[in-house]
Amino acid sequence: MKLHLKIKRFNPEKDKAPWWGEYDVDVEPTDRVLDAIHYVKYYQDGTLNLRRSCAHGVCGSDAMRINGKNALACKLLVQDLGTDHITIEPLLGMRVIKDLVVDMEPFFDHYRSIMPFLVNDEPLPANGRERLQTQEQVDRISEGTKCILCAACTGSCPAFWANGKYVGPSAIVQAHRFIFDTRDRASAQRLGILNERMGVWRCRTAFNCTNVCPKDIPITRQIAEVKNAILSGVIA
Ligand code: F3S
Ligand code: FES
Repeated sequence: MKLHLKIKRFNPEKDKAPWWGEYDVDVEPTDRVLDAIHYVKYYQDGTLNLRRSCAHGVCGSDAMRINGKNALACKLLVQDLGTDHITIEPLLGMRVIKDLVVDMEPFFDHYRSIMPFLVNDEPLPANGRERLQTQEQVDRISEGTKCILCAACTGSCPAFWANGKYVGPSAIVQAHRFIFDTRDRASAQRLGILNERMGVWRCRTAFNCTNVCPKDIPITRQIAEVKNAILSGVIA
């Protein structure tokens, strides 16, 4: 099938403002949007810049705005867009380095701010090897462990667009994963961080994050659970 791609281009070293590159490509309906972008890069304009690595929805590097909705270009089939016109832009709310490549450093600063690691200085249990959990305790945190830090959620959040200092949905998902982990001992500290001015209370329950998550994590629900934990002072 024939596709018409409109890709937002911007090279800050050369361009005064972003501009639209328009490209016609031939693809199979079962090709991914990433294949169509690769076609442009390999055969029509090698200066086009994008990030991608695994091409299989694992690394999280190719989140972008496709026909107005954030997605991983490597997971989205052309035929599922329901149109032969595709508009592709970099994630919103993040500084564009070049074309579809945005500066992820502030995003990872937010991630690091919520202590995304297990904290437990207590002696190891009797088996000397691991801190066991019940299946129920594992299930409580397993949705959050699917997060691949692609930033599709944070880059779709109007509260984040309005103020990039907001910690954002992705960092809250990462915090949730440890806050509700029975082996962790720093939940109160994380809840304190998220209770600050740029923490969870910036969320206005817009649901964009949940709607775009390529791993189907119920992000808005998790944010509500973190809010409830702060209010009740109880980790359920
Ligand atoms: Fe933003 Fe998601 Fe809340 S889109 S406002 S973090 S529900
Ligand atoms: Fe790795 Fe798409 S390229 S998730």
